[in-house]
Amino acid sequence: MLLREVLHFLDVQPGQVVVDGTVGGGGHAAALLERLGDTGTLVGLDRDPAMLELAAEKVSGPNTHLVHASHADLLDVLAELGLDHADRVLLDLGLSSDQLESGRGFGFGTDGPLDLRFDESRGEPAHERLEALEADEITRALQDYGEERHARAIAAEIVARRDGNPVRTVADLVAAVESAVPGKVRRDSRKHPATRVFQALRILVNDELQHVERTLEHVLPAALVAGGRACVVTFHSLEDRLAKHAFRDEARWENLTNKPTTATPAESRVNPRARSAKLRAATRR
Ligand SMILES: C[S@@+](CC[C@H](N)C(=O)[O-])C[C@H]1O[C@@H](n2cnc3c(N)ncnc32)[C@H](O)[C@@H]1O
Repeated sequence: MLLREVLHFLDVQPGQVVVDGTVGGGGHAAALLERLGDTGTLVGLDRDPAMLELAAEKVSGPNTHLVHASHADLLDVLAELGLDHADRVLLDLGLSSDQLESGRGFGFGTDGPLDLRFDESRGEPAHERLEALEADEITRALQDYGEERHARAIAAEIVARRDGNPVRTVADLVAAVESAVPGKVRRDSRKHPATRVFQALRILVNDELQHVERTLEHVLPAALVAGGRACVVTFHSLEDRLAKHAFRDEARWENLTNKPTTATPAESRVNPRARSAKLRAATRR
């Protein structure tokens, strides 16, 4: 997404060390690798091992390193690879369309266990969290990470269902949301009423904002050389706010995008998810 714009702001040169911190299916990484030439190094990270397998089909070679790690652990990854800096870092945050259809709970179009973890080897799946949390804690997560207006009613419905009909699958959660949200709101809304709820639970289960904040505030400034560039593509206002705030620090960054760059109407027509994408870029001082 926003590929042309990412390539413009990163302005990759042959021989550089380029990090794709969210390599996903490898679409951006393949274009970056092409610009790096034989002398450059590409490091691709993802928390989801299934995405690394997909990426490996698009990017490979002696100077490509695909690593199962969070971008928040980039400094450790670079050290293990014997690299002392990065020239370019891309973060294309959120979810890939392959994950949406993976049956792991990310998209409400595909039923399956309500897991929602990028990395199933760590932490607890969303349905276990929903069984353990107090109604107030669920309400707060839906408000803080989904800006969900009906958070209290949805949380109450989830808790009420624990006795006899607990929320364990995608379909269970959709049913709980549909019975908690008033019919008129459901009919008037452009988005499915469960959209924000799934987003909020995914952010909660994966501690997403904590990872992004650590990367923006501590990891990128330490990893990038002076003159190095970072480019961040976000899909919701919570992440965009973190990127905007980080790049405002003039002692560390020369901000290249005072206003975020968005997808062209043509890209949004082909890919409706691109409508919410915002790109911010900055050069390390
Ligand atoms: C929008 S997709 C990236 C798509 C990719 N740019 C492409 O061209 O195919 C986001 C990816 O980031 C991964 N991800 C999310 N949080 C992460 C984190 N903290 N560290 C590393 N990867 C993460 C997800 O598993 C997903 O594969």
